[in-house]
Amino acid sequence: MIKRCDVLVVGGGLAGLRAALEAQANGLNVVIASKLYPVRSHSGAAQGGINAALANHPEGQNDNPGLHAFDTVKGSDYLADQDAVEIMTAAAPDVIYQLDHWGCPFSRLANGRVAQRPFGGAGFPRTCYGADKTGHYILQTLYEQVIKNHIETLNEWLVISLIVENKTCSGVIAFNLQSGQLEIIEAGAVIVATGGSGRIYGKSSNAFTSTGLGMAIAYRAGVPLKDMEFIQFHPTTIIGKNILMTEGCRGEGGYLVNKNNERFMKKYAPDKMELAPRDIVSRSIQTEINEGLGFTDPAFGGYVYLDIRHLGADKITERLPGVVEICTDFLGINPIKEPIPVQPGQHYTMGGIDTDKDGVTEVQGLYAAGECACVSVHGANRLGGNSLLETLVFGQRAGAHAAQYVAGRAKQKFNESLPDYFLKQQESRLQQLTMGAGPDKIGAGTENPYQIRNELNKTMDALVGIFRTESDLKYALSGIEALKQRFRKIKAPGIFSSFNYHLLWVLELEGNLDVAEAIVKGALARRESRGSHSRRDFPKRDDVHWLKHTLATYTKEGAVLSDRPVTITKFQPQERKY
Ligand code: FUM
Repeated sequence: MIKRCDVLVVGGGLAGLRAALEAQANGLNVVIASKLYPVRSHSGAAQGGINAALANHPEGQNDNPGLHAFDTVKGSDYLADQDAVEIMTAAAPDVIYQLDHWGCPFSRLANGRVAQRPFGGAGFPRTCYGADKTGHYILQTLYEQVIKNHIETLNEWLVISLIVENKTCSGVIAFNLQSGQLEIIEAGAVIVATGGSGRIYGKSSNAFTSTGLGMAIAYRAGVPLKDMEFIQFHPTTIIGKNILMTEGCRGEGGYLVNKNNERFMKKYAPDKMELAPRDIVSRSIQTEINEGLGFTDPAFGGYVYLDIRHLGADKITERLPGVVEICTDFLGINPIKEPIPVQPGQHYTMGGIDTDKDGVTEVQGLYAAGECACVSVHGANRLGGNSLLETLVFGQRAGAHAAQYVAGRAKQKFNESLPDYFLKQQESRLQQLTMGAGPDKIGAGTENPYQIRNELNKTMDALVGIFRTESDLKYALSGIEALKQRFRKIKAPGIFSSFNYHLLWVLELEGNLDVAEAIVKGALARRESRGSHSRRDFPKRDDVHWLKHTLATYTKEGAVLSDRPVTITKFQPQERKY
């Protein structure tokens, strides 16, 4: 089957839904292809809130978008592009008002205004929230708009490749999970909004569906991946499962304590304490654990306690009901009465598909938005509450630009034979994967993909974590290269069958391997410590040599790195102190 549309959005999370709504509002025919039913997207797992300088909180009345921009740039360790940050923070208040008018059930202050709570690295309480289910509420709100506007969604369609010729994108090849068939979707423009790639790691707060495939399809089609070395580790994920315990716990006044019941953050960030930015809090927890000041679980490793008991049952049940549910269901404890055992876990990919402020990539007609993209507004460390904002601001901008691009090329003619050529190429690639045939002997059929995935996860957890060294990173890189070789002999039976999740995981794994290699190469190259990238062998930030973005370009032999200057407008780099 061939489907045709003006704008195809790949991914049904917040960035994708927002982009689709905008493109459709511009009068275009829009289709969303999502490997999940949209409301099951990982955006729905975002808990604590979305930043906007509304100045609603009694302690935040002097807040404004410029201060929000400054906090974001400082939080990014001066690697964010400041023009993009200013766009995002200036747009933030209207984003909240629009969501509010669409019916998003934000929590409220007594005066009826949208409630705001303190979050890490922010000068004022500026994080708007709906209890601790903010992402879930916004996702439902946007999906209602998608239904209202009759935007077609192709659910359980996994896009596996882009149709690109002469650096122009004209559609995708997708694996329709229901039919088990590969399908062509022709489009005037394609917006990739597939989310982050956290599941390259084992200890991650991300859904199992957050893999590297979305980034990899753009990367393989010629768009560089930018700043991939910057991986965010959220300070507080529950031990074992690594499900998020929102920063909202600390925003509401929760403490972090070590085995001596000491609020150890006073040693590391005496002013901001538990509300220092995430890179600093995660490093502090890991340092406590490494120095024997944490607790140890034989199966799941070191941890400290997140203690919210002093907030009292009323506040906890009103503002953090999800935390209570998660602790009860997954740890068997009641956080109103017991401290929560937490450890840092992979949470967010700051890097991603290289785009400008409108989601434009190096390939004409190809856009990216949300966590899979790198604009860059987060630089070396994202502030909590800025990711939901980014999805909406830059999803909207990508949708608008894509609509303009398609309208400007209204007489665009599809090359009749091109989609078929790409379809056949993918069919034969999948056949190679499943039958062990083909010129480069992919899929000789002996390797178990789940073993490769587990080994990749262990390698990333152990060697590409919060603290890094050259020898660890080199060891990780050779490990990933070995796993890529083993992937060529993967065992992936049966392709054209309905709901072939086995094949889906094999394709996701292939994306993970490509993206993991780009992460490690970036981390090896960056011989400094900045934000989330902490090199024990290069412990200082080095603005002379490294105030720049890294770009990883795909080649058959692996990622090749180049770099690009950071855009600085108002905020000259300074030492970060909290
Ligand atoms: O801690 C949290 O609620 C996560 C928020 C975020 O990643 O922005």
